Amino acid sequence: MHNLVIVAGERELAERAADHFVEKARAAIMERGTFDVALAGGSTPKAMNALLAISPRKDRVHWESVRFFFGDERCVPPDHDDSNFRMTNESLFAPVRIEESQIFRIRGEDDPKAAAAAYSALLVREMGQRPRFDLVHLGMGPDGHTASIFPGTLDQIDDTKLTAAPWVEKFSTFRVTITPRVINNARSVTIETGGAAKADALAAVLEGPHEPSRYPIQLVAPTDGELLWIVDRAAVAHLRTTIATSG
Ligand code: 6PG
Repeated sequence: MHNLVIVAGERELAERAADHFVEKARAAIMERGTFDVALAGGSTPKAMNALLAISPRKDRVHWESVRFFFGDERCVPPDHDDSNFRMTNESLFAPVRIEESQIFRIRGEDDPKAAAAAYSALLVREMGQRPRFDLVHLGMGPDGHTASIFPGTLDQIDDTKLTAAPWVEKFSTFRVTITPRVINNARSVTIETGGAAKADALAAVLEGPHEPSRYPIQLVAPTDGELLWIVDRAAVAHLRTTIATSG
């Protein structure tokens, strides 16, 4: 049984994801005084970030209590067009004036393996040997990847470790990513995905056989936490059963 919320379209996807982010942030800060979140890159989160950066949602989060981490990063400098940090900085950190001390980025400009090792050490320094995020926000690619865990790369992802730096053949590049071990230790994981281009993958991931080497996002299964899919109608168009709860 999957926990899905289906919304009408792209705008509603961002609104629902932003509302969920605010809800998780407020609860974590209320209970533990901080909100540790690992953010996704790519294009989908931009709209959510932009809504978080303006009223009313901006006014509902005590931003000084939030620590921002990343689920993955491209192996480029932080000012590069492809940088997940740059996308997030422009859409969220800068407009909300997040202090640099609250941002824990993956150093995409460094050697990939070194950047992965450094991020693993950072996670241990900041969160202990078993980092447990309050929220890991993920997207899904049309090939069923998430973070930078791509089909055909699982042999490069040592899940006894916190991070990995897989070579991604389809992009002819290395990436740096947190591992399923870290994702699945989170209190809450949100997968925000929409659009017709994701419909085939979503149906295969949710209704097809368990074959994570082909659909790595199937590895996302929090051991002691919740998983919420926030999807739009276009993305669920190929689901055979009405397993979703609309919202
Ligand atoms: C990245 C992301 C990646 C993303 C998916 C979906 O670095 O690209 O972390 O996992 O979530 O590729 O990307 P879109 O939201 O652009 O479809």
